[in-house]
Amino acid sequence: MLSNKDIARLRAETDGVQHVIHFNNAGSALPPNVVRDTVIDYWKQESLLGGYEIQAQRANELDETYYSLARLINAQKEEIAIVENATSAWNAAFQAIDWQEGDEIICNRPDYASNYLAYLHHPKKPKVKVIPTTASGDEDLEAFEKMINSRTKLVSITHIPTNSGHVAPAEQIGSICRSRNILFLLDACQSVGQYPVDVEKIKCDMLSATGRKYLRAPRGTGFLYVRKEILPQLTPYVVDLHSATWTGEQTYTIRTDARKFENWEGNRANQLGLKAAADYAHAIGLEAIWHRIQALALEVRKGFRQMPHVHCHDEGSLLAGIVSFTVSGHSAAQVQQYLLKEGINVSWNGTPNTYLDMTAKGLSEIVRVCVHYYNTEEEVSKLLELLQKLK
Ligand SMILES: Cc1ncc(COP(=O)(O)O)c(C=O)c1O
Repeated sequence: MLSNKDIARLRAETDGVQHVIHFNNAGSALPPNVVRDTVIDYWKQESLLGGYEIQAQRANELDETYYSLARLINAQKEEIAIVENATSAWNAAFQAIDWQEGDEIICNRPDYASNYLAYLHHPKKPKVKVIPTTASGDEDLEAFEKMINSRTKLVSITHIPTNSGHVAPAEQIGSICRSRNILFLLDACQSVGQYPVDVEKIKCDMLSATGRKYLRAPRGTGFLYVRKEILPQLTPYVVDLHSATWTGEQTYTIRTDARKFENWEGNRANQLGLKAAADYAHAIGLEAIWHRIQALALEVRKGFRQMPHVHCHDEGSLLAGIVSFTVSGHSAAQVQQYLLKEGINVSWNGTPNTYLDMTAKGLSEIVRVCVHYYNTEEEVSKLLELLQKLK
């Protein structure tokens, strides 16, 4: 549990909280000062001494990034590839699967647009089946098991979506996939840094994540996890001289660890920022972070229940820090602009971001208040007071 003293210290370590009330953590969170300073210091060193030379000097530290990320999700460092965002990570895994005509994918209703677009765009035209939801808005696990057949190539689930606080039962889905020997790819873009993601418990084969959201790392960072037993069966869609070695006129070899999904070039300053963010989250503890986020989100949802003109749209038995809502008589953009003028950052998104979920809920847009552990009860009260006035 994070005490008030802990929160005060964590806020003192984040300059941004003095400038703005930031509830756009599912967009891009405020980084702790140590993340910002790590990036700036490294970048300064590069500018003074040369990018390659600094990389050689700080090679050990850079290499430890893999360990820091692996530790965060209970993986091994050989199972981690560092890439520039969650979409790159997700596609590196998805495109590496040996797709055949007639293959089927099972996804969940709140699946992210870019994932679903990749299914539609794939030349082998895999059939996409969507897990139905129960009355409480959870994935229907009985129905899910019945959907699996000999053509099921992949189960691809968005853990916490971009448009609500829904938390998919990743652990149960993973157990079913493992027992049926089916590949399981988890989009953990909104859950890493927010929820205690443990790949051993979840039993996913592949997991994609981003840096800038709940992990509080720099923009332009992300990573992929691939379970080591699965690595040999995935062939990278793109190879370069980092992921592969040119050994002869007709020959090359591909590396065997997850770094076969990386490019040679990358932003080393940001990589160290990602490491600093992962270490920072680890030091606080993901259980404590998750507990605090849930408590703050509950305050927001409770407040919304007192306001007949504010409608919360989160569904499911377990809810995370992304609180989605609409306000009668005001568009999502109007609500966002109104709060921005009062010094509060929120964001909004529309049907194309999560088409299946939004259309099932009969919505065309939602506003998101996405709380993080460094937000306070006072910030939540100010938000609620302002929304009350929108009546
Ligand atoms: C659930 C989910 N998956 C994937 C992504 C894509 O992440 P990135 O922009 O880092 O590629 C997002 C971004 O908002 C997301 O919310």
